[in-house]
Amino acid sequence: MDITQLPTVDETTPAERLHLDNLLDSEVANPTEGRDVLDGLTQTPKALPPKYFYDQRGSVLFEKICDLPEYYLTRTETAIFRQYSPEIVRLTGPCELAELGSGSATKTRILLDAYQAKGMPLRYIPIDVSDTMLKDSSQRLLEDYPGLKIHGLVSTYEPALNQLPPLTLPTRMLCFIGSTLGNLQPQECDRFLAQVSAALDPGQYFLLGLDLQKEKSLLEAAYNDSQGITAAFNLNMLAHLSWRFEGDFDLGNFAHVAFYNEEAHQIEIYLESLKAQTVHLKQLNLSVAFEKGERLLSEISRKFNLSQMQENLAQHHLQVVHSFTDENEWFGLILCRRC
Ligand code: TRP
Repeated sequence: MDITQLPTVDETTPAERLHLDNLLDSEVANPTEGRDVLDGLTQTPKALPPKYFYDQRGSVLFEKICDLPEYYLTRTETAIFRQYSPEIVRLTGPCELAELGSGSATKTRILLDAYQAKGMPLRYIPIDVSDTMLKDSSQRLLEDYPGLKIHGLVSTYEPALNQLPPLTLPTRMLCFIGSTLGNLQPQECDRFLAQVSAALDPGQYFLLGLDLQKEKSLLEAAYNDSQGITAAFNLNMLAHLSWRFEGDFDLGNFAHVAFYNEEAHQIEIYLESLKAQTVHLKQLNLSVAFEKGERLLSEISRKFNLSQMQENLAQHHLQVVHSFTDENEWFGLILCRRC
């Protein structure tokens, strides 16, 4: 049977077109759960993995960040999607979309629209650590796209990449947009690209969104908005740790700090302790002492050079098909193909 000949609209209800797997379930009973928090808070300097930003409240706050006037990233990437989605569709042909860190899937809709406009079948594999965000956005997508089938994974990246559901359309495109790659340390980034490469069959696609190097003032404004939403998002990580591991972080005792490190080409985001204090995380059997002014690194956001990244991708057998950018060259979208 030629799968591309399947009708794009069928008569099933939204619920029948949805399949969700929770790969975190196995983590709950996992004795190593929270190990990364323990390691991060006992090392010097202290640091935490960015996935702890994204509980339910964090996911909602992040959506608000994306709409901030100072946060040019989402707007710029969206404009690139609007302009070039038809071109991406032309390059890939009928293709299912998998997305790491799918969130509200707002930008992905632009791609889905473009595949739909060409009468191609639609399948989406959203992957997100927030199960509420995943369920809500899937629900809305299924209502808006009558032919769409969704197989969602509530998961962190690595287990999801190891357990992607079998292909049902002629090819697949793994999307990693929003410059989330920049939130990985260079070493983690390399490891991650190797995992992506291993998760794709030759001929399959990888679509990567990257924030590009630019003037410091523009970058710093994007991570220090005037409404304080970024600060609330950053501090929410501590609230998340408190409920998840029975902790007693007092959010009033920490402040949001973000600046651009020009040598490293990265925004660094910290939670600064406003006084000497000791925090406890009961479930991890952990007491952590903070000095006044001590900074805990909650995230880096690296800013990239397009041609450097293209070389990097090639080293992982990800060959650039086309790079798209906006007129200011603030943001890049690289379509590559596993070779
Ligand atoms: N991927 C986003 C970025 O690097 C994440 C982000 C945006 C973020 N604003 C933030 C993380 C503020 C922490 C604090 O731009």
